[in-house]
Amino acid sequence: MNAINELKANVAQPFEQARAMPPAVYTSPDFLAREISDVFAQDWFCVGRASALPNAGDYVTHELAGQPIMVIRRNDGTLHAQSNVCLHRMSTLLQGRGTTRSIVCPYHAWTYNLDGTLRGAPAMTLNENFCKDAYKLPKVKCQEWLGWVFVSLNADAPNVADQLKDVEGLIDGYDMESYTETFFETHVWDTNWKVLAENFMESYHLPVCHAGTIGGLSKLEEMVCPPGLPAFNYHTILKDDTLKIAMAHKNNTRLKGEMRRTTFLLAIYPSLLITLTPGYFWYLTLHPEGVGKVRIGFGGGMAQDYADDEDAQKHFKALKTLLDDVNIEDRGCTEKVYQGLCSSFASPGHLSHLERPNYDFANYLNDRIQAGEANRG
Ligand code: FES
Ligand SMILES: [Fe+2]
Repeated sequence: MNAINELKANVAQPFEQARAMPPAVYTSPDFLAREISDVFAQDWFCVGRASALPNAGDYVTHELAGQPIMVIRRNDGTLHAQSNVCLHRMSTLLQGRGTTRSIVCPYHAWTYNLDGTLRGAPAMTLNENFCKDAYKLPKVKCQEWLGWVFVSLNADAPNVADQLKDVEGLIDGYDMESYTETFFETHVWDTNWKVLAENFMESYHLPVCHAGTIGGLSKLEEMVCPPGLPAFNYHTILKDDTLKIAMAHKNNTRLKGEMRRTTFLLAIYPSLLITLTPGYFWYLTLHPEGVGKVRIGFGGGMAQDYADDEDAQKHFKALKTLLDDVNIEDRGCTEKVYQGLCSSFASPGHLSHLERPNYDFANYLNDRIQAGEANRG
């Protein structure tokens, strides 16, 4: 297929000569089908923060690589993922997010316990072969790491913590696990999921795309873009104390020197994008809904150090308003990129040194697609 070969040729260039990924990688339905089977059905997908599901029965649903799944906190306090498809005539069960004491199918009310076993089913006593104990919702892999909840359809997926231990080294002292989510929203934008992911991976666009909000605070010369690692890439920017809650709290003695005002922009493959400042975090978790549509989970909150600081909580509310405005700007830019990518004039230009993470992402994507090709033989 063209897009696969074009991507392979694209990443064969060294970074110093690299260009943006070819348009077909973003616009081809066949390539998207490979991304679903070779990326989203293989790797770990983040559904959000564990702290958003504190009590038994709290759940979140998702359609992962075409599979309806749920993540639910069981009565024993642990989080588990399982199929969200009824074992009777196969309706989906739960919708969206919420909390429930049991899982009741909206079609004929077969009712499951939180652990996926069937509790009861009305008017089934006359079917001689029906045995309630033979029914249990299939399990899906689910792991927590530093407060994040990941699911994978791939039974052989390596442990999240092993894949991401280098992230832990980088952000040691931020104590990301203790950050508490205070908002979570879902959005759908008219762009390819990778356009939005790549937009996050570079801060090159900040001064211009975000001229109306944070652009003036962004200094290109203070952006550091090291080479990525196999499971993620990152870059850092520095904030000054015009935004106090982005600084390490005075009680935070873990972070020293410039780290106290360093923001990490972590892109955990395929699609968890975290902005981590010493005081707050926000994130996007992306899933394609078609070549030109992306479903976005958007959440964030504050570091534990600021939990008792009322002023800071007020400032965070103001920050959320700012982030919403920043998102409107990003939406404009990324939807325009997708429109451009669909043009017959679309032709990838060279990458800036500030787009190093984008190059690493292209390599990751190519590796996954090539592995899928090899498996199919
Ligand atoms: S499809 Fe779920 S109870 Fe019938
Ligand atoms: Fe942006």
